[in-house]
Amino acid sequence: MAKEPIRSIKGTQDILPNQTWRWQTLETALHDHFKHYGYREIRTPAFEKSELFARGVGKDTDIVSKEMYSWKDQGETSLTLKPELTAPVVRAYIQHNMAGLAPVTRLYYIDALFRRERPQKGRYRQFHQFGAEVFGSQHPEADVEIIISAYEFFKGIGLKDLQLRINSIGSAESKAAYRDELIRYLEPYFDELSEVSQSRFHRNPLRILDTKIPHEIKILKDSPQTTEFLTDSDREHFHEVIGLLDLLEIPYSIDHRMVRGLDYYTHTTFEITSPALGAQDALCGGGRYDDLVETLGGKPTPAVGFAAGIERTLLALKSVSEESDPSQARVTLITLDDSTRGLCFSIAAKLRAAKISTEIDLLRRSLKAQMREANRSRSRFAVIIGQSEIDSGRAQVKNLKTGEQVPVQIDLLIDHLTGLEF
Ligand code: HAM
Repeated sequence: MAKEPIRSIKGTQDILPNQTWRWQTLETALHDHFKHYGYREIRTPAFEKSELFARGVGKDTDIVSKEMYSWKDQGETSLTLKPELTAPVVRAYIQHNMAGLAPVTRLYYIDALFRRERPQKGRYRQFHQFGAEVFGSQHPEADVEIIISAYEFFKGIGLKDLQLRINSIGSAESKAAYRDELIRYLEPYFDELSEVSQSRFHRNPLRILDTKIPHEIKILKDSPQTTEFLTDSDREHFHEVIGLLDLLEIPYSIDHRMVRGLDYYTHTTFEITSPALGAQDALCGGGRYDDLVETLGGKPTPAVGFAAGIERTLLALKSVSEESDPSQARVTLITLDDSTRGLCFSIAAKLRAAKISTEIDLLRRSLKAQMREANRSRSRFAVIIGQSEIDSGRAQVKNLKTGEQVPVQIDLLIDHLTGLEF
């Protein structure tokens, strides 16, 4: 009896060869981009102690309370597949005493993350992010460096109509004043709130703002705005951030109710959205988190960062560009006789050594079938070598775009192919 094939898990995706080149192009652009900003790459483990996220991201957040993939290992330690990267990067920053190496530390990452959300277009259970974090500066320049590193990257790869929304939720002190006011505002509506929001009411009322329930969204329409509770120095910080954005001519809108769904933010919060994306339109989100290093056991250190969804970036990119796969082989080497197969194999090796990407038939097919394959795989040139070509010392080089075919001396093949436009 035929065995039932095993399928991948809901919300996860195979990235197939006809798509991986998009990922590779984006990743190359990212490494290049961050190098220009002086950021260095960090890679952290796929799983961490669950406590890192409970303490770092916050127990009452959707991510920690509903979406984590957690399990107990044999030693009874609770472990979690990482749902976000800021907490792991902060853990690594503290653990490796990076503060001792330089007053300002700039890090970036590209990684896979896991959240048990309801899958839909642009929202997956395993997804990927790129992002950056800068540690050590409390000044608005750091906020703006992070914002423009995201904004300019999206712009540089060709995304259009980007919308930057920005807010300030202030220091711990202003956050506390805002929290009290939010409780006061929500008190008359307490009985109308969902069970989850009622349980968040005293513990963590800011998280009620993450609600997706329509009647709660309605209740929150006139809720207090975070900027009303900023201290003078918080306000000054926010104005300087905005002033620098104006100077750099980066368009933005201020959204006084954007607190974002993670507990660690202080001062600046921001998101960049793209209308090309539909319902899940946030390309990236980020902000300042001046208390997190201390919360996770390090010395008080100001920090700010952002993270962007790679799947969403590629979705948005698809709507503006129709690039072709640059990883297709440049040459298909066509062997005609059993007697010349070995020689063709060694010519293929020489072409590759000269950085000319070359494919060769592995199925001992006929000339016709090999030519069909060369066209199917969209090679640019077919190089045909049979016994008569060996005897004359000349291969036939066919341009598969124009159909033009010319004889080329076999020992000059590399020079000839290198000189041709790909
Ligand atoms: P976040 O807003 O949770 O922030 O995620 C950032 C971005 O990751 C989102 O804007 C979205 O593009 C993408 N994303 C999130 N969840 C999914 C999903 N289920 N499927 C596909 N894409 C998704 C953070 O993660 C913070 N750590 C950002 C940060 C860095 N703040 C300071 N530093």
